[in-house]
Amino acid sequence: MIEPVTVDIGPASAEQSRRLREAFGCFATGVTIVTCQGPDGRPVGLTVNAFTSVSLDPPLVLVCIDAASKSLPAFEAAGAFAVNVLSAGQEDVAWRFTLRDGERFEGTVVETWKGAPILAGCVANFECVVDQALDAGDHRLIIGRVETLRYEPEAAPLLFLGSRFRELPDQN
Ligand SMILES: Cc1cc2nc3c(=O)[nH]c(=O)nc-3n(C[C@H](O)[C@H](O)[C@H](O)COP(=O)(O)O)c2cc1C
Repeated sequence: MIEPVTVDIGPASAEQSRRLREAFGCFATGVTIVTCQGPDGRPVGLTVNAFTSVSLDPPLVLVCIDAASKSLPAFEAAGAFAVNVLSAGQEDVAWRFTLRDGERFEGTVVETWKGAPILAGCVANFECVVDQALDAGDHRLIIGRVETLRYEPEAAPLLFLGSRFRELPDQN
């Protein structure tokens, strides 16, 4: 059996970042593509696993975007965004939305509800208006109020755990 690791967190270092990343990676998440309409009308999006529900009334969600993200200014300008929750089998989409901007939407089926790109084949899509945005360390926290949603309760999600994409074991 592998022994658990105890680490005191002090001044930032490469080793500490590695430990933090490993420990954060023990928390299994889904994988989303967060999108908005860019100022030039072109679609903008990036892969994000730092997504969580926040509140039912009002309906709020949170996404955390790296302050160094090239997409961030577009989200700030748009004031609205969509969270597209990937399904099992959409690992290629998750990778594509880490490539250079121009290549991300190539071959992606997209529809529009109120402005942000809504990706096809997802387990859920949430279209939101920005409710609050605040800085936290090296990330920007964007809280959105959900205006429209679509979901497929039976569909299997794509998972991310320990720096790897995973899928739920087949229940059948
Ligand atoms: C599984 C996975 C999860 C990610 N989660 C986040 C995240 O929560 N927030 C974030 O800012 N970047 C996240 N990224 C990294 C961005 O998708 C990636 O850096 C992207 O290229 C940023 O593009 P941009 O600089 O054009 O915005 C994640 C990447 C992967 C593969």
